[in-house]
Order: sequence, then C-alpha cells, then structure tokens
Amino acid sequence: MPPNRLSIIILAAGKGTRMQSSLPKVMHRLAQRPMLSHVISTAESLAPDQIVVVVGPDMQSVVAQAAPYPTVLQSGQLGTGDAVRAALPSLDRPSDVLVLYGDTPLVEPETLRRMLEERRRTSAAVVVLGMRVAPPVSYGRLVLDRNGNLSEIVEAAEASPATLALDLCNSGVMAIDGAALPGLLERLTPSPVKGEFYLTDLVSLARRDGRIARVIEAPAAELAGVDSRAGLAAAEAALQAKLRARALACGVTLTDPSTVWFSADTKLGRDVTIEPNVLFGPGVTIEDGVAIKSFCHIEGALIRTGSIIGPFARLRPGSAIGPDAHVGNFVELKNAVLGEGAKANHLTYLGDATIGAGSNIGAGTITCNYDGFFKYRTDIGSDVFIGSNSALVAPLRVGDGALIAAGSTVTRDVPADAIVLARGEQIEKPGQASRFRAMKRRQKDRQSVKG
Ligand code: UD1
Ligand code: MG
Repeated sequence: MPPNRLSIIILAAGKGTRMQSSLPKVMHRLAQRPMLSHVISTAESLAPDQIVVVVGPDMQSVVAQAAPYPTVLQSGQLGTGDAVRAALPSLDRPSDVLVLYGDTPLVEPETLRRMLEERRRTSAAVVVLGMRVAPPVSYGRLVLDRNGNLSEIVEAAEASPATLALDLCNSGVMAIDGAALPGLLERLTPSPVKGEFYLTDLVSLARRDGRIARVIEAPAAELAGVDSRAGLAAAEAALQAKLRARALACGVTLTDPSTVWFSADTKLGRDVTIEPNVLFGPGVTIEDGVAIKSFCHIEGALIRTGSIIGPFARLRPGSAIGPDAHVGNFVELKNAVLGEGAKANHLTYLGDATIGAGSNIGAGTITCNYDGFFKYRTDIGSDVFIGSNSALVAPLRVGDGALIAAGSTVTRDVPADAIVLARGEQIEKPGQASRFRAMKRRQKDRQSVKG
C-alpha cells in the first residue's frame, strides 16, 4: 500500500459579511492571534505533506499571515465547495484531504487525528466532524441513516422543520478520500437557494457512488464557527477558559481565573501568582516564582524569576525585568531592561532604557526619550539611586553608583559615583508666611466691601 499522504486545505476566502468589518474574517483575533494563525498551528501539528490556504481577492493580509504556506485565489467566492475546487490543482496526490475552516479556530489536533483514523478504518469517502448543538442554530444539520452512517448534510436555510429539529450539526471540518475528491467536486451544482456550491453536498454525491460517509463528534465549544462579533466573543471565552485551565495545571495560581486574559503564546513558569484583572498581550514569558499583582497590562515582556509586578503596571514590548526586580504601581516600561534586584516602585516612565542591577528609580522618574522627531536611549549603571521626580533627558548615561538628587533635570552624562543636583535652588524668607497671609486677607476684605 502507498504511504498516506495528507493535504490540508484551509478555507479563508469568505467575505465574512456578518462580521460588519473591513478586516477579512479570519484576521480577527482570538487570544491576540488571528483566527487563521490558530488554524495553521493546528494544521502543522498533524505534520501534513502540504498546507494550502484559499483566499479571496484583496486579502493581502491573509496571504501574509498564511506565509510560508502557499495561498490560492478563489476569485468568485461562490461557496465552500467552490473554494475547495480552487485548491484542487495545487494538491499533490494526497490520499487524504482535510478541509479546515479559517473561521473554526478551536478545533483540537486530537479530534482531527480521530477523523483521519476513522476515514482509514472505514474507507469512507468523507468523514465529517459533527457537534451537538440544541436548535435553533444556523449550522448545517447532519442526517444519519439507520446504520449510523451519514446520509446527507442539509444547510439550515434549506432544511425542513423535521431536519431543523436535529441537534447533530456540521462543524464544516471534513476528511475526504483524496482519490475521490476531484470526481466529486466536478459534480457539485449550485444551491437553488443561495446559488453557492456547497462542500457539504459531497456527502450525498459520494453516497450515490455507493461510498459511505461517517461522522465523528466533538464538543461544541471546540467547533464553534465564528460568523459574527458575538461568535467571536463566545470563541474568545472558550479559548480563555482553556488557557486558564492550562495555566492552573502547570502550577500557576490564579486568584480569580475568569479575570485573567492570556495571549495564546503566553509562557508561564511554575509558582507564578497572578492576581485578578490582568491582561497579557503577545510575546510574554514569565519565569518561575513571579508575582503579578492586580490590574497589570503586559505585552512583549520577559519577566525573570522572583520579580514582582504591579499592581497597575504597564509593560510594553521590549521590556525585560529581573531577576528579583520590582515594578510598582503606575509604572510604564517600553523597550527597557530593569536589571537584577532593581526597583521602580511608583509613577514612572522608563522608555528605551537600561537600568543596571540593584538600582533604585524614585517615584515620578521620567526618561525623556523623544524630542518629537527621534528616540534616544538612557543607560543607567548598577546601584544607581535616582531621586523622586527626576527627568532624565536622553541620550544620557548615568555611571555605576551615582546618586541623582530628587527633582533633578539631568541633561549631561553622569560619571560613576557622582552626586548630581540639577534643580532650582531653595530660597528661604523667615517670618514671611504670616505677613503674606495678612496681606492677602486685607486684599480679600477690600474686594468683598466693594462687591
Ligand atoms: C458552513 C457550512 C455549514 C456548517 C458551518 C460550520 C457549507 C455550505 N456550510 O456554513 O454546514 O454548519 O460552516 O461553521 O459549507 N469560505 C471560502 N469561500 C467561500 C465561502 C466560504 O473560503 O466562497 C470559507 C470562509 O472563509 C470560512 C468557511 O469557508 O472560513 C465557512 O464559510 P461560511 O460562509 O462561514 O459558512 P457557514 O455559513 O458558516
Ligand atoms: Mg462560518
């Protein structure tokens, strides 16, 4: 027997009209990643011989997202059957063709493996992935015969009341006999209702050839198709539930899991604690023993072991913190390294900066990194003390062990171990406060007499 050759076609050409968006539907994000990227990762995990993505006209963003996998253009967008037909010439003699939908992003690799196994075991022409969803829903209905084989798929818009009452629904995902596919596609005819070529019609065509079709079931939460913003929100909730469960299982404490929002790529060490109301953007790695306190917004950041972040901290891309560093409330970092044991505990902006080990950044410190045209770096050495309310005007270097007095505006490089005072001098006028108040009171009295 020849070896199994698997081709995966990902359908992503649909207009997504119901999303009410100028963005192609499959580019809408779940857990910070476009839906298409989720589907591609799932496809990759099956180690197929090829992956082809079907796109519509003017979908450059989808083509870019699909790379390095090739895309084929479906120019007319005449339905799911027409989309697979567009991909047919690019297929490389597959024994199995797996059709995934770009708008069905949560399907698990294990479920797809079960489908492919079922196809080989039963030699079915088509294996369809089904789910139980209580009517009324807009999914196609799976009609079984008395042997439990699939006899046809009926689109909701075209179903009789009796068919509509069925709760076994079509997820859209299909495994198809690669040798039979071209002959089946050839015979698709447009739906009299919508004028589209339905991929789902492959089932009745295969039956007419004396072939069988089978159904594999999986939970509806895994197979939800996203056609609207409400569907997107529901899929986000399902995916977040999965990511939270995974974090808990890996040794992360979530005080209130439902209020922590992960990115699909968030990497978490053990004994990490995350308090309520924290959001992770893409590209975050958190090492062991880190504590994230409430109300933090974190993206593109590496947080090294033992560090404490927040409450109310904002870490932007290019932040690297710790080990054992502290970032406190209302502190923002962007493209900034906070070294081992360093602290920035209150009300601070550190942008395009490096802060050495053991340094202490006082409340209200600002790295002035932008002159309206260009960005500049601030390099602070180790064991430096920056007094509160200091403005560090970049480009600037502050040497190891230096001490900047509170309220300084520092515009020149500071040598190691120096003390810098760069602020207006204090003037004292003894006994003047009460004289000043008496003068002001008299002024006020004169005004109220006139008024
Ligand atoms: C489809 C199924 C329906 C199933 C549902 C599951 C058909 C006819 N209907 O309906 O039985 O219950 O999915 O979610 O297959 N696409 C193209 N080109 C096109 C049309 C669509 O590439 O011309 C792509 C879309 O980008 C999308 C997928 O195919 O990723 C499904 O299209 P969509 O229009 O959402 O189909 P549904 O109405 O959801
Ligand atoms: Mg859909």
